[in-house]
Amino acid sequence: MAEELYVPLNGSLKEKYELLIPQLQGLTQDEPDMVANMANIAAALKEAFGFFWAGFYRVEGNQLVLGPFQGPVACTRIAYGRGVCGTAWKEAKTLIVPDVNQFPGHIACSSRSRSEIVVPLFSGHMVCGVLDVDSDQLDAFSETDAWYLEKIVSLLKF
Ligand code: SME
Repeated sequence: MAEELYVPLNGSLKEKYELLIPQLQGLTQDEPDMVANMANIAAALKEAFGFFWAGFYRVEGNQLVLGPFQGPVACTRIAYGRGVCGTAWKEAKTLIVPDVNQFPGHIACSSRSRSEIVVPLFSGHMVCGVLDVDSDQLDAFSETDAWYLEKIVSLLKF
């Protein structure tokens, strides 16, 4: 397939995700390499929605280690239970943070990040990483984002 993304400029959030998901499915389904798939998912999210930062952290021992991402350089290691990412890992659930300054222990990789959503990746019942998406706008993420981003990370087969 052509490695080109089609996303309507003026579609609703739901319409954009609905168009994006089959394209991501096409990009990832025959590719077994996890880094390649994470890289394309991060690029597609950035391209489709213009997020400030979109990328992955992978569980390595008792830390999260930076994986493929799009956006400004970021912290490379996050401890279990620390920050939004480490908390989403510990609680094994998606966290929506409307204002990062109100989240105790938030790790500010960039002072421009204002709100954030973190979605855990599962290998069986174990969290093996997280998808982290940051916005430079307050309150940028909703349950709609959570629902679709969870669908998107389920394309990664660990
Ligand atoms: N803010 C995150 C750290 C990762 S960066 O935003 C890319 C956190 O508190 O876990």
